[in-house]
Amino acid sequence: MKKLITLKLFLIILFSQSLSQVPDNDNFIITHGPWLQYTGQTEVTIMWTTNKPAIPGINLTGPDGKARFIRNSTDGIVDGGGTLHKVKADGLTPGTSYKYSLHSVQVLKYQAYKVYYGDTLVRRAETFVTPSKGTDKVSFTVFNDVHELSGKMASYLRNNNVAGQEFWFFNGDMVNFLQDPAQLFAGFIDTAVAFFAAAKPFYLIRGNHETRGYAARRVKDYFTFEDNRFYYSFDWGPVHFTVLDCGEDKPDNNRNYFGLADYNAYRMKELEWLKEEVKSDAFHNAKYRIVMIHMPVVKEEKQNWAMKFLSDNFGPMLSVAGIDLMMSAHIHRNVFYEKGKSGFTYPVLANSNNSFVTVVAGSDGIKAVVKDVSGKTIAEYNIR
Ligand SMILES: [Fe+2]
Repeated sequence: MKKLITLKLFLIILFSQSLSQVPDNDNFIITHGPWLQYTGQTEVTIMWTTNKPAIPGINLTGPDGKARFIRNSTDGIVDGGGTLHKVKADGLTPGTSYKYSLHSVQVLKYQAYKVYYGDTLVRRAETFVTPSKGTDKVSFTVFNDVHELSGKMASYLRNNNVAGQEFWFFNGDMVNFLQDPAQLFAGFIDTAVAFFAAAKPFYLIRGNHETRGYAARRVKDYFTFEDNRFYYSFDWGPVHFTVLDCGEDKPDNNRNYFGLADYNAYRMKELEWLKEEVKSDAFHNAKYRIVMIHMPVVKEEKQNWAMKFLSDNFGPMLSVAGIDLMMSAHIHRNVFYEKGKSGFTYPVLANSNNSFVTVVAGSDGIKAVVKDVSGKTIAEYNIR
């Protein structure tokens, strides 16, 4: 009898132990997103996070009703195993509406000779539209200097005619610093997702505040940048956009950078890229050329060290290249420098930290409207 009780006890302990060893696959959820990144005429990149490691994929359905399951791979290894996910779909048709749903397979164990999968999460379908070829109009909105005040950004969006925009630029200083990547979500990504980012992309432009703190080294993981650079260009409708990275505001040897700043060399490398960029066919053949940069490249503004560097080195090159508009931020004031009055041949619209700008570029020129948090128009500019 005693032996039987001991055996029973042994079995109970064994069973309860084996139960406790069943990996926990409850509460496997999507924690952020999806947020769309670069959306070209033939491609889109979709990002999201899960609370537990997963292998990401997307189910993509075109207008013909045919579904495609897409996973990416790098160097022969299927992407995944972490909690931050990025899936690019290419070979798309311009001007076409696609449905997609996120597909996340939980990874319980990931070893050389043993991989255990848990739950599969398939999220409800969302829709995005690829930009059309040869369209003569584009509408977009610019936010900047939000400095993690996502409530203010939500007010912008409530007054933004979201349905009428094709994409958004976040022109720098969206956060105060980056010690923890979670600041990106609380600061602006989650708000973008709540209003539009599952269906339309935003483009992050680095300001001087996105460079500060340990997690500044991880910014590229959370977004998509052409050729993995913070300076790049793309075309949408009649506009060729040149996106520039201003770097930090103070000299590299400033004590606040603790010997970790190397922006002089970085900006000179960027300048070499810009030299080629302004010679490119895409730049020349576009109906309009708009330069996006966090710090205004002007001569008149009271300049910090970086702004002086940019106006000495970048301004003359952009002046000769011929651009129609520069859109900037950083100075926390609304200023419009007319062509010639910026110190260069191009006009500059610097948007404050309490307003946003809607832009329509079409056959009549470029119309930029500056609006306050309640959506009231502060100023309107027509560039022809
Ligand atoms: Fe700034």
